[in-house]
Amino acid sequence: MTPAAASPTALPPAAEQVTRERELTRRVIASFADCENPRLRQVLESLVEHLHAFVRDVRLTEEEWTAAIEFLRRSGDITNDARQEFILLSDVLGVSMQTITVSNEAYGDATEATVFGPFFVEGSPEIPIGGDIASDANGTPCWVEGIVTDTDGNPVPGARIEVWEADDDGMYDVQYEDGRTFGRAHLYSDEQGRYSFWAVTPTPYPIPHDGPVGQLLQAVGRSPYRASHLHFMVQREGFRRLVTHIFVRGDELIETDSVFGVRESLIKDFTRNEAGTPTPDGRAIDGPWEQTRFDIVLPPAGA
Ligand code: BEZ
Ligand code: FE
Repeated sequence: MTPAAASPTALPPAAEQVTRERELTRRVIASFADCENPRLRQVLESLVEHLHAFVRDVRLTEEEWTAAIEFLRRSGDITNDARQEFILLSDVLGVSMQTITVSNEAYGDATEATVFGPFFVEGSPEIPIGGDIASDANGTPCWVEGIVTDTDGNPVPGARIEVWEADDDGMYDVQYEDGRTFGRAHLYSDEQGRYSFWAVTPTPYPIPHDGPVGQLLQAVGRSPYRASHLHFMVQREGFRRLVTHIFVRGDELIETDSVFGVRESLIKDFTRNEAGTPTPDGRAIDGPWEQTRFDIVLPPAGA
């Protein structure tokens, strides 16, 4: 999809033209007047207002409209139970992240949310505190610890903490298609709200980019790579569900994360320890290992 550059000599639309365009927008918006669902009406009216404004603003050509429809058709063709090209499109346009930002309003020092991503799987194994989510995942062992609190600093015991990540080759277990499980587990915070587990240090990987969204990224010179991250979902009755990641400070992809998921507050120090350095839980490790800390603050439900 290569839109033709706007002609530098194009004149602004004449008054009669402006009237026709605005009148069409007004008529379409008026068509929702009898909608009995007020929220549906509000959303559709605003959608039409903004879509029409976009079409008028860029002076969309019929060829470009056709190319956009074709893009959507190809996105539908590649979408199946395991591949959702429309979510990827929303992700790379920042719409997923904007929806998350709007839906998870800032509340005290509550931990910020970020994108869910397509690789969460229900039914992950439960591990004890200090257990290992990595299983067969290759990568540098990484000790992760922290405390779950409310926004007044009180510990939150019994919070269910789901964690999932890709291996050192940038692959999630579900991408291997042989039924293996690694790099995912859940555990519960203890009476003091503390938690800890072994994982592998996150590394960068690309979002699926062999479809229309990948072509779009290529056309605009953008990378499909995500900054290195470890996914968290934290749930406890009485609190807002938190879906987030932590990112690795110093990762060169922090500024160009393909889905705009990075928040400054979620960038953590991952400290490297040389081989032979004693581990926090006395586990014997052959080579170097890393460690990081992520304290989680949950706002109340409904906040
Ligand atoms: C991920 O974090 O795994 C992800 C997020 C958005 C799109 C693709 C992948
Ligand atoms: Fe991910």
